[in-house]
Amino acid sequence: MLANRRITFTAALTAFAALALAGCGKQEPTTATTATPAPAAARVLVVGTDAAYTPFESQNEKGEIVGFDIEVVKAIAGKAGFEVKFVNTPWEGIFNALDQGDRDLLVSAITITGERRQAMDFSKPYFEARQLIAVRRDAQVASFEDIKAMKVGVQNGTTGDEVVGKLQGKSSGNIKRFESTPLALKELEAGGVQAVVADNGVVEHYLANNPGGGFKTVSDAAFPVEQYGIAVKKGNAELLARINKGLDDIKADGSYDKIYAAHFGGTPK
Ligand code: ARG
Repeated sequence: MLANRRITFTAALTAFAALALAGCGKQEPTTATTATPAPAAARVLVVGTDAAYTPFESQNEKGEIVGFDIEVVKAIAGKAGFEVKFVNTPWEGIFNALDQGDRDLLVSAITITGERRQAMDFSKPYFEARQLIAVRRDAQVASFEDIKAMKVGVQNGTTGDEVVGKLQGKSSGNIKRFESTPLALKELEAGGVQAVVADNGVVEHYLANNPGGGFKTVSDAAFPVEQYGIAVKKGNAELLARINKGLDDIKADGSYDKIYAAHFGGTPK
């Protein structure tokens, strides 16, 4: 009898716990049990960004994600009539997160490449970039070729990684691949690598903010021009069209130029 009662009590507790859990779940709008997800227009779209790429995307002291890319997407969303929420997403898993549907779109200074186009769809280009080399001020480096035999830091899986791979051979032991660009630059400061290759905007920003760091930049006409695009899941033509329309609108009404000037000064080429 006694044992039986205890079982009943335990069962009641378990049932209560289950109810409590279910109650908690209901407070989360994203776990609503409706079978069909709300149409893109009606819900907050989740934007993935690797927020360690100043001035394009970074986290401020309050933990908010800020930067040029963020303002561009907010302005596009305002025009196109959708709401966005930015979620810091490590570069390593960013394309997979889009493909899995964990992110609706990506803005992360992503260069549009032929290879990436196979896996996702891109908006019209919204920014032009090139690779740029950072080295110690006293380094004997005047061209890309000059870092052929050097230890070079790159962010893993970026276009910087790709160009250095072409120069040194993909499997070169002198290519040091980091999870983030700031980590590669830290290693340059520490002397663990002799050069870093990354997007010009980020390298320039870094040098401007570390005037005592003793670094210089080296550009090379051999680096191809790169275009940044906003990525959506392959086949999401509806969202892509809205983004492209929003981008046209913010270019036409001058808001893109304002955002550009606030971050880079002057007007875009
Ligand atoms: N533009 C380069 C690429 O697409 C680097 C982008 C890295 N972006 C970032 N937020 N970490 O490969």
